[in-house]
Amino acid sequence: MKEVINVNGAISPAREAVVPVMDHGFLYGDAIYETMRTYAGATSLLDRHLGRLKGSCSRIRIAPPSPEQLIRELDRTLEAARNPESYIRVMVTRGFGDIGYEHSLSLRPGLIVIVLPLKEIPASRYAQGVSAVLGRRRRNPVDALDPAIKSCNLLNNLLAYMEAQDAGAHETILLNTDGILAEGSHTNVFLVKDGILKTPSLSCGLLSGITREVALEVARREGIPFQEGEYRREEISEADEVFITSTLQEILPVTRLDGSPVGDGRPGPLTTRLLAGYRKLVRPS
Ligand code: PDD
Repeated sequence: MKEVINVNGAISPAREAVVPVMDHGFLYGDAIYETMRTYAGATSLLDRHLGRLKGSCSRIRIAPPSPEQLIRELDRTLEAARNPESYIRVMVTRGFGDIGYEHSLSLRPGLIVIVLPLKEIPASRYAQGVSAVLGRRRRNPVDALDPAIKSCNLLNNLLAYMEAQDAGAHETILLNTDGILAEGSHTNVFLVKDGILKTPSLSCGLLSGITREVALEVARREGIPFQEGEYRREEISEADEVFITSTLQEILPVTRLDGSPVGDGRPGPLTTRLLAGYRKLVRPS
């Protein structure tokens, strides 16, 4: 098998895997998830992902699976797939039960593990960079649906991503409802101006990306000055370098923004340095 899905302990090929319609994850998008990947067959940064998964569960009041159960099901699914490298998506759903919000606190949570062959991003993307657009759509406000929850309610992200697709771009970068830079539709965002690395602070309303966190650790270790703060649209439009981060995309240079080149239109020196530092940390030598 290559594409394998584990639904509440039952492992099957992806095309045969089904979830009950009455799972509140399906009915209401009442579920959370983590996306992970392997390097040399081992799940990368597992502890950090499990920590964030637990945090997402507690924010929506789902009792999280124990780390032992999670690791056991993850290992069983990876073992069944036997891919050289895997994409992994773990979902915790509210569980199966009657229609109606009032049941939500008494259901038994569901656990789903999806393992697929990892699609490597071509090296040319890192060498040339990608294009992005600044979205018209705003990121969900923290006091409505906090983007810190890695929730399966992804319509805000999806609708934002359509703007990139319409423009033939790779990613949409979103502002929050105060007009302050937040994050990409499925990435975090960084910019560089005059040698200083800048990224929106968590209070701007964004997912605390694990790649973002590690990139900041690399910057600290390498003595690269950085700030977390509030940045407006002009600051990213006038940046010397821009890059996006995610588990699957690592640190990916953005060399065109809204159709104009970022800096000289090539991946910048700090971006390249951080990508090398990040890979050194996550990829086994
Ligand atoms: N996306 N912001 C959003 C909205 C995301 O969905 C993601 C991750 C990130 C980056 O987080 P991390 O560095 O922990 O992967 C930021 C994953 C990859 C996904 O949706 O599959």
